[in-house]
Amino acid sequence: MHELIEERWSARGYDPEATLSTDEITDILEAGRWAPTWGRIQPVRFVVGLRGDATFGQLTATLTRGNKGWAPSAGALILVCTSDAADDTKLHDYGAVDLGLAVAQMSIQAVSMGINAHPMAGFDASIARAAFDIPADKRPMVILGLGRLADDPALLDPDVADRDRQPRERLPLREIAFSRRWGEPFTVTK
Ligand SMILES: Cc1cc2nc3c(=O)[nH]c(=O)nc-3n(C[C@H](O)[C@H](O)[C@H](O)COP(=O)(O)O)c2cc1C
Repeated sequence: MHELIEERWSARGYDPEATLSTDEITDILEAGRWAPTWGRIQPVRFVVGLRGDATFGQLTATLTRGNKGWAPSAGALILVCTSDAADDTKLHDYGAVDLGLAVAQMSIQAVSMGINAHPMAGFDASIARAAFDIPADKRPMVILGLGRLADDPALLDPDVADRDRQPRERLPLREIAFSRRWGEPFTVTK
């Protein structure tokens, strides 16, 4: 696996003093802009806050309790929105796929720049909709936290440090990759 993918993880122990530049955020947004989209529709939109600005403050106000403790230490919060279409299931479903691809590319771009990216569904979309006048045909789905890790985890809130120490695990490949028929593991033959 590529080392950028190996190095990606969703951290919480961000350095509350570290800042991100608009150049850095622009590079990360570019990585999202160049993600593939269904039918080249390009439904994904971003609302960008840098810590200290009004947008960042409005975004932190939407966070759920579990995220409010750590995410305000991010250098940037990016609200990621995509198409909403009750009468067009393709537009609706693939809009979500397109958003996921954009967030994935942004996350890997961030890793390449020494920045951690942490996606969050834990925010109140209706508060965000009202705060930023998000049109009815768009849905806010994820806030992407971007930050630099704190140098000294001992200075972090113990709960945050503890959550960052939890082992990261995945289902084994044989349980999720099949061939011939569903449930029959794909086997590497080399
Ligand atoms: C769509 C989505 C929503 C998520 N929402 C939250 C969230 O609200 N708060 C949080 O702390 N982590 C959130 N996460 C991060 C996951 O918990 C994390 O990706 C998962 O535990 C795997 O850990 P890893 O990213 O370090 O591999 C979210 C991830 C995704 C993809």
